[in-house]
Amino acid sequence: MLQDLDQKQVSSVKMPLDLPDSIRAAQELALKDLDISLPESTKMAQAVMALSAFYVKNPEKSSPWHEVWAQIAYLAYYMPLNWWRLCGVVKRGQQLNFFAGFDHYIDFGSGLGSLGMAFDEAQLSFASGACIETSKEAIALHRRLAAKSLTPLDWKLGSSPGEIKPKTLAAFSYSLTELQTLPEWVSACDGLLIVEPATREDSRKLQILRGELLTQGWYVWGPCTHAKPCPLLSFSERDWCHDRFQWTQPDWLKQIENKMPIKNGTLPCSWLMMRRDPPKVAATAQKHDLGRMTGDLLEYKGFSKQLICRGSPREFASWQRRDFKKNIPEIGRGDLVRISRELTIKGNEIRPNNETDIVKL
Ligand SMILES: C[S@@+](CC[C@H](N)C(=O)[O-])C[C@H]1O[C@@H](n2cnc3c(N)ncnc32)[C@H](O)[C@@H]1O
Repeated sequence: MLQDLDQKQVSSVKMPLDLPDSIRAAQELALKDLDISLPESTKMAQAVMALSAFYVKNPEKSSPWHEVWAQIAYLAYYMPLNWWRLCGVVKRGQQLNFFAGFDHYIDFGSGLGSLGMAFDEAQLSFASGACIETSKEAIALHRRLAAKSLTPLDWKLGSSPGEIKPKTLAAFSYSLTELQTLPEWVSACDGLLIVEPATREDSRKLQILRGELLTQGWYVWGPCTHAKPCPLLSFSERDWCHDRFQWTQPDWLKQIENKMPIKNGTLPCSWLMMRRDPPKVAATAQKHDLGRMTGDLLEYKGFSKQLICRGSPREFASWQRRDFKKNIPEIGRGDLVRISRELTIKGNEIRPNNETDIVKL
């Protein structure tokens, strides 16, 4: 392999440059009440490292919200980072028309409300949003951050959303990882959105859950463009399905990261969108399949290849340099593509003959 082009690849999702002003102002005020301000990046970096170490040591434990350092770390770092990731995931969902038809959402393990803020950023509003959270400290902070929420929000302390209204979307953003299984009440919902860390373990667990939900009458809307067995689960121990978004860090976040060994040059995550009704996005013409790029572009002598998913086989798109010279299309990991059914197949490689054979949507 000559070169991993990952960092040069641009995903089709454009990310916001910064948190909205109202959230930034509420974030700064809340931090001030914890006796810290954003220029104190060393203290913040220490708080972030402490929470990161907690998650590494206790992957299935609930976030330690009673600790001031955990509140600081979440307010200054994890809430914004999750918001950016969720902005990317919500855009992926909008491309699939996934959010159409839901009147209510349940944000389970809502934390500081990164999900609701990402819905607001996408101008998506619902009749109601129920935030289910076991931490009273998180709820108190979330209330302050969400003062301008487009969707009327209601908080429930504990783990139960109560009665499920018709047309409800159940959402889990970085909270399923803190549970053993998907709660029972999800079966009464019409849609399900799960966002998880992009680790091999969390992502593969999510694909296993997808398979189980398919047998229970759910339809997968994304990232998979098909309901067949996941090729990365069936044919690989090494790969796992995850997305990645490019972003530009604002200076205040850069200052915190400069003091830490963790660097978020790009924002990876795994996500799953399922509904009770089948997806409306179909191949644009009978001669095409809909697929998704599930890998980064890897360059070899004479060709470049990239994992691509459109069904149960584990396949690579393989662009031969003699045909494409320097014009290999830039398609980011996670991007939706239209794939011609008339291209050449060689083993597990699908070989485009021209620029229109695999097109980013
Ligand atoms: C990693 S945080 C994610 C917060 C937020 N959803 C986000 O994306 O930034 C997980 C949250 O789930 C909450 N949580 C964990 N177990 C829960 C449970 N059984 N019921 C309700 N909330 C729970 C934790 O208190 C924590 O706020």
